[in-house]
Amino acid sequence: MATERTLSIIKPDAVAKNVIGDIYSRFEKAGLQIVGAKMLHLSKEQAEGFYAEHKERGFFADLVSFMTSGPVMVQVLEGEGAIAKNRELMGATNPKEAAPGTIRADFASSIDANAAHGSDAPESAAREISYFFQDNELCPRS
Ligand code: TYD
Ligand code: MG
Repeated sequence: MATERTLSIIKPDAVAKNVIGDIYSRFEKAGLQIVGAKMLHLSKEQAEGFYAEHKERGFFADLVSFMTSGPVMVQVLEGEGAIAKNRELMGATNPKEAAPGTIRADFASSIDANAAHGSDAPESAAREISYFFQDNELCPRS
């Protein structure tokens, strides 16, 4: 499997629960390296642009409102199969369906406050990484 990068966001609910370190530890134990990170309080425009693919969905306004409700931790993860690995660590979108031991099973309270974001494909990862990071803000280790 190829080395990939993916965009991860620890959402406002999980930041408020003070579990950034716990989640970072899961990334590292799974062999993913954090090659860039920043804490941000997203503006409405930033959240709308990030989730533009969902703008016609009924949950869009609530999603934007939630994502701007407090600070988020945004990071780029790098490693073998990073996109799928991060999605596996996160668990299903709806925490009620998330496998035990996943980030969403452990920390999310509902489908709209679900603790974490992870890119779902190489194309979305590239778009989402460049949405938040300049090339010179990423620090590959190798
Ligand atoms: P989606 O991209 O389908 O899920 P994922 O985050 O697992 O890639 O949806 C983006 C976010 O939108 C999701 O994390 C939470 C929110 N959302 C809802 O609030 N209600 C819903 O029914 C869905 C599908 C998503
Ligand atoms: Mg998605």
